Amino acid sequence: MIAILGTGKMGEALLSGLLRAGRPPSAVVAAVRREERAAELRERYGVQAADATSAAKMADTLVLAVKPQDMGRLLDEIAPVVPAATLIISVAAGITTEFIGQRLPGQLPVVRVMSNTPVLVDEAMSVISAGAHAGEEHLRRAEELLSPVGKVLRIPESQQDAATALSGSGPAYVYYLVESMVDAGILLGMARGTALEMITQAVYGAAKMLRESGEHPVILREAVTSPGGTTISAIRELEKHGVRAAFLAAIEAARDRGRELGANLGEHSLREQSLGEQSLGEQSLGEQRLGEQRLGK
Ligand SMILES: NC(=O)c1ccc[n+]([C@@H]2O[C@H](COP(=O)([O-])OP(=O)(O)OC[C@H]3O[C@@H](n4cnc5c(N)ncnc54)[C@H](OP(=O)(O)O)[C@@H]3O)[C@@H](O)[C@H]2O)c1
Repeated sequence: MIAILGTGKMGEALLSGLLRAGRPPSAVVAAVRREERAAELRERYGVQAADATSAAKMADTLVLAVKPQDMGRLLDEIAPVVPAATLIISVAAGITTEFIGQRLPGQLPVVRVMSNTPVLVDEAMSVISAGAHAGEEHLRRAEELLSPVGKVLRIPESQQDAATALSGSGPAYVYYLVESMVDAGILLGMARGTALEMITQAVYGAAKMLRESGEHPVILREAVTSPGGTTISAIRELEKHGVRAAFLAAIEAARDRGRELGANLGEHSLREQSLGEQSLGEQSLGEQRLGEQRLGK
């Protein structure tokens, strides 16, 4: 039995992926904290819905899909009931396997996942890392869970902040690029809708060629860059304006910000722990924003 603890956008995307991959609805339980959401999920997918503690008791795999700032509270809630040898798969940005392991009893295997928003169209890039007590079997089970909603790669946990900056935020850079190209279309007198349709298809086609041909992007670009032609005139301007250097600096800045926010989340949780139960419902706006920023909201 798999329990999805926190069935919001990400949790629901994973839930529907599991069912599409052939898992029976009776083998999945969705944990929610509002009855209307429970009814919605039961109706839409035919799965059981329960509170986090009841769901955690039933399952041998727990998928933690609450927002990063809710993670400490969720772990404290389920810690007394998690069965030994339960596999924990966390999709929360910035939360380390060590943090999760410390808040749960025993030495549970924890796998950390960083996915991205194309999970909603089954084209996610999910990178997974094993915690101290997770091995091959646990990574394989995480891959089984994530492959219906996109591609899965294994990386060391030390590279998770870099992955967040590359593939986690990656779609945002592409949208930014598309926005800029649409502006260029407007400058050239195109209708906005027409420009957007043309560029969206160009991006989609280019991504498909990259993936399906397996060619290096330089080779694909050179194939459309003829001597004295139009593309090379554009490339000269991109180089003149330092676009490549801007990407290097931007992605490095995203990685550094990820590290900073991760450290703050850890500190926040320690502070929360030392203040005890009393403070658990009193989260400052700043702390809520911290989690939201990590999601790129
Ligand atoms: N969305 C993405 O594409 C994406 C991409 C990469 C990573 N992630 C990660 O996925 C996680 C979830 O993000 P999201 O965008 O899916 O957020 P979301 O839509 O807000 O979903 C979180 C869900 O968790 C529920 N929840 C919180 N505490 C709970 C508890 N104690 N028991 C049961 N349910 C609980 C919330 O319930 P309420 O509805 O009652 O608030 C909400 O439905 C985050 O940690 C994020 O870092 C998301």
